[in-house]
Amino acid sequence: MPDTVTIIDNRTGKQMECPVLTGVMGPPVIDIKHLYKELGMFTYDPGYGATASCKSAITYLDGEQGVLMHRGYPIEQLAEQSTFLEVCYLLIHGELPNKREMDEWEAGIKTHTMTHEHLSRFYTGYRYDAHPMSIMGGVVNAIASYYHNTTDIQDRDQRLITAKRVIGKMPNIASKCYRYAVGLPFVYPDNSKSYVENFMNMTFSRPCEKYTPSPVAVRALDLLFILHADHEQNASTSTVRLAGSAETNPFACIAAGIATLWGKAHGGANEAVIRMLEEIGHPRNIQKYVNRAKDKDDSFRLMGFGHRVYKNYDPRATIIRKACHELLVEMNLNQPMFEIAMELERIALEDEYFISRKLYPNVDFYSGLIYQALNIPAEMFTVMFALARSAGWLAQWMELMEDDEFRIGRPRQLYTGKQIRNYVPLNKRP
Ligand code: CMC
Repeated sequence: MPDTVTIIDNRTGKQMECPVLTGVMGPPVIDIKHLYKELGMFTYDPGYGATASCKSAITYLDGEQGVLMHRGYPIEQLAEQSTFLEVCYLLIHGELPNKREMDEWEAGIKTHTMTHEHLSRFYTGYRYDAHPMSIMGGVVNAIASYYHNTTDIQDRDQRLITAKRVIGKMPNIASKCYRYAVGLPFVYPDNSKSYVENFMNMTFSRPCEKYTPSPVAVRALDLLFILHADHEQNASTSTVRLAGSAETNPFACIAAGIATLWGKAHGGANEAVIRMLEEIGHPRNIQKYVNRAKDKDDSFRLMGFGHRVYKNYDPRATIIRKACHELLVEMNLNQPMFEIAMELERIALEDEYFISRKLYPNVDFYSGLIYQALNIPAEMFTVMFALARSAGWLAQWMELMEDDEFRIGRPRQLYTGKQIRNYVPLNKRP
């Protein structure tokens, strides 16, 4: 007996057998591809809470257990032992590289760290106080114009070059978003430096002083990049896939992902957490904000809390919390906001409202505190997230392009508007 689910239309008695697909891990999935053809119906799932939009072999999440793995490797092991560029290789190629492959990968990315000189002028069209996510989205979309007619997205080798281009250029683009806002001259990449050192040099160095980033900061940033590199079919990744399904330019797909990530329900939460902690100001005010978050008449939510998939600790939050604590000790920083964050977490996790809804700190709860300790301004936090997530977006885009079931993404709807009616000329309307 094959695994199927029978869907019966009780109105008509018509029925259909839907195959049940089983992945390597995770809940089984009902294949409803032929539902409309067989029963003339669509499915309704606002927010896609119960919809698998694609097959994917890149990232696995178990929200009940708080598990995250890339290509089968637990995030804890990657965070502890890998590097961001190696994780990029893993996401894109599916396997960890050997020494030669890793050297070639790094060298390949380094050949793509520059951007066209004309692109620098693009930044100056923005107001001095433009949000860097707005600039980043605009600039990445502009890069599409440099590679539009010359990129054949049906060619695997060219897709791979695109991946190297995006990963190589992102630190350069991100650093300029920051330097434009603070009025510092743009810095060219220096390929003798590591990926993160290069980013820090382009971002923080000044023409008048020698700049050497602290190794503690370099490692902390590399860790954050690893933890943000991919996260299954989240809103921005799904946006990238949907844009990609129309066979649009990959840089334009990434720009669409950046736009989605910016929202405070998604990647913008890391900036919103810091704003919230600043507003709370002192542990004695925490209860007031927890009460506001519970009040259904108040739109305020605890930023950095809750997740669509995790109904347990977000494993990335656990790693970041520990790293944040170690960084503050190592840098000998007394950051009162870390104390407020820990106390807020404690109070919320003892509260029936958060317990019953399984709301735990997510990746964004502590990441902003690390960025802040590294003197990265709050507006840049989501830019850092986008820099790292570009690797995942690229891996997911490449997987989509190679999918043997590739089709343009085109959801349907439950129409709730007017029935057909006749047009009334303006002079005849009441
Ligand atoms: N504070 C207070 N209540 C919350 C929160 C929160 N942060 N998150 C969810 N709830 C409540 C929500 O009001 C609802 O209550 P009820 O059942 O009484 O109506 C219940 O918990 C379920 O929430 P939901 O809105 O149905 O959950 P969702 O899966 O649609 O939303 C979320 C997930 C992440 C958008 C949401 O938890 C949220 O807005 N969190 C704050 C923003 C945030 O930290 N976002 C970062 C997400 S992780 C990183 C990333 O995606 O980039």
